[in-house]
Amino acid sequence: MKKKKSAVLLFLTFLASLSFAQAKKPIHHSTAVAASMARGKVVYTNICLACHMADGNGVPTMNPPIVNTDYVLGDKPRLIKIVLNGFKEDVQINGQTFSNNMSPHSDLTDRQIADVLTYVRKSFGNKAGGVMALEVKNVRALNNVK
Ligand code: HEC
Repeated sequence: MKKKKSAVLLFLTFLASLSFAQAKKPIHHSTAVAASMARGKVVYTNICLACHMADGNGVPTMNPPIVNTDYVLGDKPRLIKIVLNGFKEDVQINGQTFSNNMSPHSDLTDRQIADVLTYVRKSFGNKAGGVMALEVKNVRALNNVK
Protein backbone atom coordinates (compact mmCIF):
# COMPACT_ATOMS: atom_id res chain seq x y z
CA MET A 1 0.00 0.00 0.00
CA LYS A 2 2.76 2.39 1.02
CA LYS A 3 4.67 1.56 -2.12
CA LYS A 4 1.63 2.36 -4.24
CA LYS A 5 1.21 5.74 -2.57
CA SER A 6 4.78 6.77 -3.18
CA ALA A 7 4.50 5.59 -6.75
CA VAL A 8 1.49 7.87 -7.19
CA LEU A 9 3.41 10.73 -5.59
CA LEU A 10 6.35 10.11 -7.84
CA PHE A 11 4.07 10.14 -10.84
CA LEU A 12 2.46 13.41 -9.75
CA THR A 13 5.88 14.99 -9.24
CA PHE A 14 6.81 13.80 -12.70
CA LEU A 15 3.66 15.40 -14.18
CA ALA A 16 4.32 18.66 -12.33
CA SER A 17 7.87 18.80 -13.60
CA LEU A 18 6.61 18.20 -17.11
CA SER A 19 4.23 21.14 -17.01
CA PHE A 20 6.94 23.25 -15.39
CA ALA A 21 9.28 22.42 -18.25
CA GLN A 22 6.51 23.34 -20.66
CA ALA A 23 6.02 26.73 -19.04
CA LYS A 24 9.73 27.47 -19.08
CA LYS A 25 10.20 26.46 -22.68
CA PRO A 26 11.76 29.38 -24.59
CA ILE A 27 9.43 31.15 -27.00
CA HIS A 28 10.11 29.86 -30.47
CA HIS A 29 11.01 32.39 -33.13
CA SER A 30 8.11 31.26 -35.30
CA THR A 31 5.72 31.68 -32.37
CA ALA A 32 6.95 35.24 -31.80
CA VAL A 33 6.50 36.06 -35.49
CA ALA A 34 3.00 34.56 -35.50
CA ALA A 35 2.08 36.66 -32.46
CA SER A 36 3.49 39.80 -34.10
CA MET A 37 1.53 39.01 -37.28
CA ALA A 38 -1.68 38.61 -35.28
CA ARG A 39 -1.20 41.96 -33.51
CA GLY A 40 -0.13 43.56 -36.78
CA LYS A 41 -3.29 42.42 -38.51
CA VAL A 42 -5.33 44.31 -35.91
CA VAL A 43 -3.33 47.51 -36.52
CA TYR A 44 -3.63 47.01 -40.28
CA THR A 45 -7.38 46.47 -40.08
CA ASN A 46 -7.92 49.52 -37.87
CA ILE A 47 -5.64 51.95 -39.69
CA CYS A 48 -4.23 50.92 -43.06
CA LEU A 49 -7.03 48.85 -44.55
CA ALA A 50 -9.24 51.87 -45.29
CA CYS A 51 -6.74 53.00 -47.94
CA HIS A 52 -4.68 49.95 -48.89
CA MET A 53 -7.66 47.56 -48.76
CA ALA A 54 -8.02 44.08 -47.25
CA ASP A 55 -6.02 42.43 -50.04
CA GLY A 56 -3.28 45.10 -50.00
CA ASN A 57 -4.04 46.09 -53.59
CA GLY A 58 -4.99 49.67 -52.73
CA VAL A 59 -7.28 51.78 -54.91
CA PRO A 60 -6.22 52.51 -58.52
CA THR A 61 -4.90 56.08 -59.02
CA MET A 62 -5.53 56.91 -55.32
CA ASN A 63 -3.82 54.56 -52.86
CA PRO A 64 -0.93 52.41 -54.04
CA PRO A 65 -0.77 48.65 -53.62
CA ILE A 66 1.51 47.29 -50.91
CA VAL A 67 1.94 43.96 -52.68
CA ASN A 68 5.38 43.31 -54.11
CA THR A 69 6.47 46.94 -54.06
CA ASP A 70 10.07 48.08 -53.56
CA TYR A 71 8.97 50.14 -50.57
CA VAL A 72 7.45 47.17 -48.77
CA LEU A 73 10.04 44.52 -49.65
CA GLY A 74 13.11 46.76 -49.66
CA ASP A 75 15.03 48.85 -47.16
CA LYS A 76 13.41 48.57 -43.73
CA PRO A 77 14.38 52.03 -42.38
CA ARG A 78 12.82 53.64 -45.47
CA LEU A 79 9.63 51.62 -44.92
CA ILE A 80 9.51 52.48 -41.22
CA LYS A 81 9.91 56.18 -42.10
CA ILE A 82 6.87 56.02 -44.40
CA VAL A 83 4.71 54.95 -41.47
CA LEU A 84 6.31 57.43 -39.03
CA ASN A 85 6.40 60.47 -41.33
CA GLY A 86 3.71 59.72 -43.86
CA PHE A 87 4.41 59.91 -47.56
CA LYS A 88 3.76 62.62 -50.12
CA GLU A 89 5.71 62.25 -53.29
CA ASP A 90 4.71 61.59 -56.84
CA VAL A 91 5.62 57.95 -57.01
CA GLN A 92 5.57 55.25 -59.61
CA ILE A 93 4.50 52.04 -57.98
CA ASN A 94 4.17 48.87 -60.00
CA GLY A 95 3.60 50.90 -63.16
CA GLN A 96 1.05 53.38 -61.79
CA THR A 97 1.56 56.97 -60.64
CA PHE A 98 0.28 58.05 -57.24
CA SER A 99 0.28 61.53 -55.76
CA ASN A 100 -2.17 61.40 -52.87
CA ASN A 101 -0.95 61.99 -49.32
CA MET A 102 -0.47 59.40 -46.66
CA SER A 103 -0.49 61.07 -43.25
CA PRO A 104 2.07 60.29 -40.53
CA HIS A 105 1.36 57.55 -38.00
CA SER A 106 4.02 58.42 -35.44
CA ASP A 107 1.39 58.13 -32.71
CA LEU A 108 1.61 54.35 -33.03
CA THR A 109 4.04 52.65 -30.64
CA ASP A 110 7.30 51.11 -31.85
CA ARG A 111 5.77 47.70 -31.37
CA GLN A 112 2.58 48.55 -33.26
CA ILE A 113 4.63 49.78 -36.21
CA ALA A 114 6.89 46.72 -36.07
CA ASP A 115 3.85 44.45 -35.91
CA VAL A 116 1.96 46.10 -38.76
CA LEU A 117 5.05 46.09 -41.00
CA THR A 118 5.80 42.47 -40.12
CA TYR A 119 2.21 41.70 -41.07
CA VAL A 120 2.46 43.64 -44.36
CA ARG A 121 5.85 42.15 -45.30
CA LYS A 122 4.52 38.61 -44.81
CA SER A 123 0.98 38.94 -46.20
CA PHE A 124 -0.74 39.45 -49.57
CA GLY A 125 1.91 37.22 -51.16
CA ASN A 126 4.79 39.33 -49.77
CA LYS A 127 7.64 37.24 -48.40
CA ALA A 128 10.08 39.49 -46.57
CA GLY A 129 11.60 39.40 -43.10
CA GLY A 130 9.81 40.82 -40.08
CA VAL A 131 10.44 44.15 -38.39
CA MET A 132 11.45 44.44 -34.71
CA ALA A 133 10.30 47.16 -32.33
CA LEU A 134 13.97 48.02 -31.73
CA GLU A 135 14.42 48.81 -35.43
CA VAL A 136 11.49 51.24 -35.26
CA LYS A 137 12.90 52.77 -32.09
CA ASN A 138 16.25 53.37 -33.80
CA VAL A 139 14.70 54.94 -36.89
CA ARG A 140 12.48 57.12 -34.72
CA ALA A 141 15.52 58.31 -32.75
CA LEU A 142 17.68 58.98 -35.83
CA ASN A 143 14.76 60.56 -37.60
CA ASN A 144 13.92 62.74 -34.63
CA VAL A 145 10.25 61.77 -34.79
CA LYS A 146 8.55 61.81 -31.41
C1 HEC B 1 -5.49 57.85 -45.85
C2 HEC B 1 -5.07 56.72 -46.64
C3 HEC B 1 -3.88 55.92 -46.16
C4 HEC B 1 -3.69 55.29 -44.94
C5 HEC B 1 -4.63 55.28 -43.75
C6 HEC B 1 -2.44 54.60 -45.03
N1 HEC B 1 -1.86 54.82 -46.26
FE1 HEC B 1 -0.10 54.09 -46.92
N2 HEC B 1 -0.22 55.26 -48.56
C7 HEC B 1 -1.30 56.03 -48.92
C8 HEC B 1 -0.97 56.80 -50.11
C9 HEC B 1 -1.89 57.75 -50.83
C10 HEC B 1 0.36 56.48 -50.45
C11 HEC B 1 1.18 57.05 -51.61
C12 HEC B 1 1.61 58.47 -51.22
C13 HEC B 1 2.24 59.20 -52.36
O1 HEC B 1 1.80 59.04 -53.51
O2 HEC B 1 3.17 59.98 -52.10
C14 HEC B 1 0.79 55.47 -49.47
C15 HEC B 1 2.00 54.83 -49.48
C16 HEC B 1 2.35 53.76 -48.68
C17 HEC B 1 3.53 52.95 -48.83
C18 HEC B 1 4.65 53.12 -49.85
C19 HEC B 1 4.25 52.84 -51.25
C20 HEC B 1 3.84 51.43 -51.52
O3 HEC B 1 2.70 51.27 -51.97
O4 HEC B 1 4.62 50.50 -51.31
C21 HEC B 1 3.48 52.00 -47.84
C22 HEC B 1 4.48 50.89 -47.61
C23 HEC B 1 2.30 52.24 -47.06
N3 HEC B 1 1.63 53.32 -47.60
C24 HEC B 1 1.92 51.50 -45.95
C25 HEC B 1 0.90 51.89 -45.09
C26 HEC B 1 0.66 51.29 -43.79
C27 HEC B 1 1.44 50.13 -43.20
C28 HEC B 1 -0.40 51.94 -43.24
C29 HEC B 1 -1.01 51.75 -41.88
C30 HEC B 1 -0.16 51.98 -40.74
C31 HEC B 1 -0.83 52.94 -44.20
N4 HEC B 1 -0.01 52.87 -45.30
C32 HEC B 1 -1.90 53.80 -44.03
C33 HEC B 1 -2.49 56.08 -48.25
C34 HEC B 1 -2.71 55.63 -46.97
